[in-house]
Amino acid sequence: MSGLLITGASGFLGSALMAAAGPGAVGLTSATDVRDLAALSVAFADAAPAVVIHTAYRQHGPEAAAINADGAGNVARAAQAVGARLVHLSSDVVFPGDGDRALREDDPVRPVTEYGATKAAAERLVLAADPGALLVRTSLIVGGPGHAPSPHERLALAAARGEQDVQFFTDEIRSAIQVDDLARALLALAETDARGVVHLGGPDAVSRLQLAELVVVAAGLDPAALRSRPAPPDRPRHCPLDSRRALALLAPDRHPRGVRAVFAS
Ligand SMILES: NC(=O)c1ccc[n+]([C@@H]2O[C@H](COP(=O)([O-])OP(=O)(O)OC[C@H]3O[C@@H](n4cnc5c(N)ncnc54)[C@H](OP(=O)(O)O)[C@@H]3O)[C@@H](O)[C@H]2O)c1
Repeated sequence: MSGLLITGASGFLGSALMAAAGPGAVGLTSATDVRDLAALSVAFADAAPAVVIHTAYRQHGPEAAAINADGAGNVARAAQAVGARLVHLSSDVVFPGDGDRALREDDPVRPVTEYGATKAAAERLVLAADPGALLVRTSLIVGGPGHAPSPHERLALAAARGEQDVQFFTDEIRSAIQVDDLARALLALAETDARGVVHLGGPDAVSRLQLAELVVVAAGLDPAALRSRPAPPDRPRHCPLDSRRALALLAPDRHPRGVRAVFAS
């Protein structure tokens, strides 16, 4: 896709987006800090994108709030200034995960983790700066067999090999999604005129333990080596995404696969 600018282009999702978009896409890394509106504005004016997909973030650390929230607001303002359509990546952990059904776009946002709070603040700032933006809440992103492993997969493999002491939650449920499936779907959503929030997760809702087992079995390791426990009460526990709005916007060949099929392939 030409006329596309991707933030976080060196990241796990950003790399997949760059590959799926082809040579016309412009990628920004942290060398163009999203907290620096002036630097962003120069980069956006140079690239003159028609579409911006904003993936850049940090999950942890003292800078996460400014990068995730203020940075997203800056990206929205810089995109507005050049007349670009914005697709902003958000997360299922803007929800508390205390329900018992798949989460819909209009369910109340009430994060229970610091990271979730930064992503919820980002959503507010993006919509305030650009009411026409599309906010895509997604779930745990994985590579699957034949792909470079995500941090989630690396953790499962290290645990199964006895290199790291981890207990995987048995009741933290997420709509994990394969990264290339997500990238292709995002590029297709960017071409629609949908605005507001959409949920886009994979069709298999799995616990952290079940996801780790899929990873480990696909690598030929013993899933019995994985240790597990229930999630503590301060975790976003039940966060499967109801992705029907996104799926209705996407052609069937852009629908993401379930992670069971991904890890069986
Ligand atoms: N990973 C998941 O399971 C998951 C789940 C739900 C939602 N999401 C959302 O999906 C998006 C992408 O996640 P990911 O896992 O692909 O991320 P990632 O691999 O951690 O990549 C993060 C990217 O952000 C860039 N970055 C960090 N700080 C920056 C700053 N101050 N200014 C500009 N760029 C900066 C990094 O650049 P450098 O390489 O230069 O440091 C890197 O390219 C995020 O918005 C995240 O909230 C992810």
